Parts: sequence; structure tokens; C-alpha cells
Amino acid sequence: MNINGKTRVCGLIGDPVEHTLSPYIHNTIAAELDEDLVYVPFKVSTGAVSDAVKGAYELDILGLNVTVPHKREVIGTLASIDEEAEAIGAVNTLVRTEGGFKGYNTDHIGLKKALARDGISLKGRNVVILGAGGAARSAAFLCAFEDAKSVTILNRSVDKAEALALDVNQYYKAAALCKPLPLSAALSSGTATGTPAVDGEDLIAIQTSSVGLYPNNNDVIIEDCELYDRIAYGFDAIYNPADTAFMKLVRAHGHKASNGLGMLIYQGVAANELWMGRSVPESVTELLFAHIAELV
Ligand code: ATR
Repeated sequence: MNINGKTRVCGLIGDPVEHTLSPYIHNTIAAELDEDLVYVPFKVSTGAVSDAVKGAYELDILGLNVTVPHKREVIGTLASIDEEAEAIGAVNTLVRTEGGFKGYNTDHIGLKKALARDGISLKGRNVVILGAGGAARSAAFLCAFEDAKSVTILNRSVDKAEALALDVNQYYKAAALCKPLPLSAALSSGTATGTPAVDGEDLIAIQTSSVGLYPNNNDVIIEDCELYDRIAYGFDAIYNPADTAFMKLVRAHGHKASNGLGMLIYQGVAANELWMGRSVPESVTELLFAHIAELV
């Protein structure tokens, strides 16, 4: 590429950043649309986020992505914050504005679009979220934004599921959108009355935990149990391996499952659109889908 005096710079702050696929996403979009922009990763330690964001602004950087562990800490450095990002309490995209960066969360947009690509809408659906970390937070708030019918949050440490459920329910102003449960509750086929712990049929299952991540490819957060009979569609936020043990179990029960590559690509596309103020053509997004799996 021809870097010159007018080349705009975007980047990623996080720690670690060595294995990120975001440079591929944004530099491919720039190349395909013939735009004079370069995207680079910046390793930033915890505690140095404020200095890094101030420095980035002074360096005339157009936009930043923010990844673990800084998605919360970065909020304190912003000039303003998007309403949905504020509700979620996590920011993964900074957009240059007059006087400072504005913070957005495109993770939930990425998940929404990845599900839509599979023909799935969360509106009116019963959802089960596995895990209660950062990715679960985006998923649970997306369920609220999209008017899901019910959300069960299953987590090994039930206190984290409870805290997330409380945050979403307070936002939603309905006491009972999200129900927290310990993982063990889903493993037992039902309560003493025979009613399964996870409510509902035709469940959309969103796997957000790190269980099954490379190199532990055979691990699965919930072993084969009656819950899989009620899962109509499974999404795993993991994309390495491309086919997780969770996805295989969902498929073994006769239903469609997708990995997290779509969420990764679409969160990047949404951030890129915010920086550049134009949309990314579907043909470019499809090009990303066609090639990114080879880089994982
Ligand atoms: P992320 O930000 O990617 O969601 P995270 O915040 O570290 O990552 O969350 C990881 C999730 O995976 C958590 O829900 C964690 O469960 P705990 O809250 O109980 O720690 C879950 N997780 C990780 N290892 C697990 C394991 N061996 N069994 C069950 N859940 C696990």
C-alpha cells in the first residue's frame, strides 16, 4: 500500500493483541474500497488506557477498537458515549469527534447481524446464554434491545449470572426478562416436579464461555443432556476451532449451529462504518467471510 501524508490511521488497543484478526478486516475493506487508511494493533497495559486514548486523539487517529481487558476502563476516557454502549457498560469502538472520542459497542451489533445471516431474529424468542463474562453481557443486552421473550443465563459461578441478569432486568424495566441459573441446574434433567430448569421450547442458545476454545477442542460447557433437545439454533462465540464441541452437539440433535466468525466480522464492519461514515458493501463482507477462516 502507498502510505503518504494523508493516510488515516485506525487501530486496536488491548492486551494481548498479537493474534487479532481486526487488521485483516479493516485493511481488506480499505483495499477493496480504495481508501487511504491503515489499521494497526497497539498493545496497551492496564492502567495506561487513559494516556493511550489521549495520545491517540492528539495523534489524529480516526478511530480505535478496544478489546480485553479495557472495554470497561476506556469509558472513563470518553467525550461521550452511545446510549446502548452505556447500557451494556462496555465499549469496543471509539469514534473521533470534536473534543474527544465517542464510545460505541459494536459487539452486540456483530452478534445481531451474524444471527440475521442465519435467518435468526431474537424478537419473541426464548434464549439461553451460556457463560456470564464480557461476551455474555453483549448477548444479554442484545436480547433486551431486540425484545426477546425470555433469557436464561447459565454460568458456573451463579453470582456472575445473577449480577448480569440484574443489570439487564433493570435496564429492561421488567423484573423477569433474564433468569440466572448455575450450570448444574441445566445438567440435571429437571426439578423434583419434572419441570426443566431452563424454560421454553425452540431455544436460541448462545455459547459465550471460553470452554471449547483451542487447544481444548473437545471440551463443552454442558455435556449432552435434555436441554439440547429444545435448542433450535446454536451460536458459539468461539471461532477457533471453527467447529466446536458445542456446535457438534447442537448439530447431532438435528439443528443448525454457527461459530463466532460472523460476530467478529460484523462487529468490525459496524466499527468501520462508524469511522468512515459510509456502509460497507455486502460483496466486501462476503469476501471477508470467504477468506478469514483461513487465517484463524
Ligand atoms: P469473555 O469476556 O470472553 O466472555 P470472561 O469474561 O473471562 O470472557 O468469561 C469467561 C466465561 O467462561 C465465564 O462465564 C466463565 O465462567 P465463571 O464466571 O464461572 O468463571 C466461563 N468459563 C470459563 N471456564 C469454564 C469452565 N471450565 N467451566 C464452565 N465455565 C467456564
